[in-house]
Amino acid sequence: MLRTRGLTREFGGLTAVDSVDFDLDPGELCSLIGPNGAGKTTFFDLLTGVLSPSAGTIELRRDGEWSDVTDASPHEAANLGLHRSYQITNVFPTSTVLENVRVAAQAAGNDSLRVWRNAGSFDSHIEEAHGILNRVGLKRKAGVTARNLSHGEKRQLEVAIALAGDPDVLLLDEPNAGVSSESVDEIIALIEDVATDHAVLLVEHNMEVVMNVSDRIVVLNQGAVIADDRPEGVRDDPAVQEAYLGGYEPGAGAAASDDAADPEGSVASESSGRSNTPEGEA
Ligand SMILES: Nc1ncnc2c1ncn2[C@@H]1O[C@H](COP(=O)(O)OP(=O)(O)OP(=O)(O)O)[C@@H](O)[C@H]1O
Ligand SMILES: [Mg+2]
Repeated sequence: MLRTRGLTREFGGLTAVDSVDFDLDPGELCSLIGPNGAGKTTFFDLLTGVLSPSAGTIELRRDGEWSDVTDASPHEAANLGLHRSYQITNVFPTSTVLENVRVAAQAAGNDSLRVWRNAGSFDSHIEEAHGILNRVGLKRKAGVTARNLSHGEKRQLEVAIALAGDPDVLLLDEPNAGVSSESVDEIIALIEDVATDHAVLLVEHNMEVVMNVSDRIVVLNQGAVIADDRPEGVRDDPAVQEAYLGGYEPGAGAAASDDAADPEGSVASESSGRSNTPEGEA
């Protein structure tokens, strides 16, 4: 339902996203992982029209038809059904939780492309917003001012706002960032729930979350896909171990990060191929 071919983004001499062929099927929950600076957020920015690609295509299927959305603006991408929960979102901090979701529902409903399917009144948007809050576990917080929510609740609100946009594909960039450990289970439950009726692409550093929720995991390293497999396959893939999991130290996190050209990473990508079948000792 979403596919990219040869998707590439360069920043000056740096190739942040390098010829990525990616497919997301309806109902699938796919995680995108990789070291800091691997290109995950840039890939999201390309999908949502925040950045335009240097090369390659992005296509989205709706109602059985593929359409090219390579050059869509963020607004157009959202209208076509790609919706993203940002690492830092456009939550209105001084509005109530309910109001935040109602406005998002109204914005989606008011769009000219969608009027025919969602010609909503004010009341119907409120009703819709209540339904969404119920779903994400914020029912009892409807009247609370958004800035007074806990971190975990803010993440839930972000997902609620994304859902109010009536997306086909939900893009979640680190929904657990800054969330206390007791809320992680709730976020996992929420991700699994929204995945029952949306395709989801998740960027997440918490490997426990990733291994638990994903149908499939795509690993990026220096902008390129080095593995694309079910969780067990990815976990046991030596190239992934070398590029990411092996060197992954929670807390020490950003080490390899933002100065992209890490020469060691390329060794891993060469040795890997795109193996779907890890061989030898795991
Ligand atoms: N606007 C920009 N201009 C120049 N370089 C950029 C820009 N945005 C990202 N980069 C570079 O592109 C590479 C990929 O960055 P990106 O933010 O996509 O990585 P990431 O996988 O999301 O990392 P993290 O796990 O830290 O969020 C990095 O080397 C980064 O420094
Ligand atoms: Mg990022």
